[in-house]
Amino acid sequence: MKRIQVVDLFCGLGGFSQGASEAKCDVIVAIDCWDKSQKNHKINHPNCVHYTLKLGNTENSVDKIADLIRQHIDFSKPWHLHGSPPCQKLSIANRKTGNVQEGMRLVFWYLDLVKKLNPDTWSMEQVSTVRKYLPNWIPNIQTLDASHYGTPQTRKRVFCGDGWVIDISDKKQTISPNDVLKELHKEGDLIRGYSVNRPICVKGVYKGLKKVVGVDGTRKITEPTFTICASAPLKLEKQIGDNKTKKIRSLTIQESLILQGFPKTYKIEGFMKDKRTMIGNAVCPPVSRMIMNKIQNNQKLD
Ligand SMILES: C[S@@+](CC[C@H](N)C(=O)[O-])C[C@H]1O[C@@H](n2cnc3c(N)ncnc32)[C@H](O)[C@@H]1O
Repeated sequence: MKRIQVVDLFCGLGGFSQGASEAKCDVIVAIDCWDKSQKNHKINHPNCVHYTLKLGNTENSVDKIADLIRQHIDFSKPWHLHGSPPCQKLSIANRKTGNVQEGMRLVFWYLDLVKKLNPDTWSMEQVSTVRKYLPNWIPNIQTLDASHYGTPQTRKRVFCGDGWVIDISDKKQTISPNDVLKELHKEGDLIRGYSVNRPICVKGVYKGLKKVVGVDGTRKITEPTFTICASAPLKLEKQIGDNKTKKIRSLTIQESLILQGFPKTYKIEGFMKDKRTMIGNAVCPPVSRMIMNKIQNNQKLD
């Protein structure tokens, strides 16, 4: 079977690339505009060509990036295009005034690139709120919760694309921090979602600000954690001795990486805040590994 070549756009720290590598695909090109995440991607995926470019601006049009990518592909082998374009600009204000086009600019840019390049298979990852704005020509649009696919974390993201479909038989047994973090194995320990001055989100509508938001409280060390995100690092609450004394600390970078599904050996350098951003933004490698495995299995059937 021929190895699949993978082009990873908006590649960040390399969550998608990592899962693809674990599925024995060759990540050949990785593009992101953030030099700090590119540096880390390069450390962990040294055999791939890296470009630090701002995609979607006038200088880097769909045509230009399509030409750049084509130069690196061996068209005698299968190839997969992945993109995780950000959509932070899809603010409440944009949604209210109907300016979805502006909010989704990079998402639509990426979809135009898909049409231009016509890859053998492709995928895109997005936050769940984007789902309703996606065009209906996309063959497969699914909301996947990483906790169903071998990640010890509840994390719902929209994955869409062509050449793969995840079905019920792909679900794996739920795992928890207790299974992957041996040093956090005490039954009574709890993981708290934590954030200071974070808007409270009630059914997608921001109602205001609160000083300390406990999200929906705590989860046991034996349950998948809350979503790991850059703005609200999770805390570990240890119960000591008599059960009344508590010790609370942030999860370490290494622990957060592992809870995102990265291997223990994954390297990450930089300031604490940047590392948390990179980890919080990442695709969980077990999810991308599963998508790439699906594509390989389809290849075998062809
Ligand atoms: C959601 S994160 C990607 C996460 C990545 N797929 C992973 O698995 O680790 C989005 C990335 O897009 C990058 N980005 C934002 N705007 C960009 C642009 N115009 N061109 C290129 N990269 C951009 C950010 O630096 C960030 O790393």
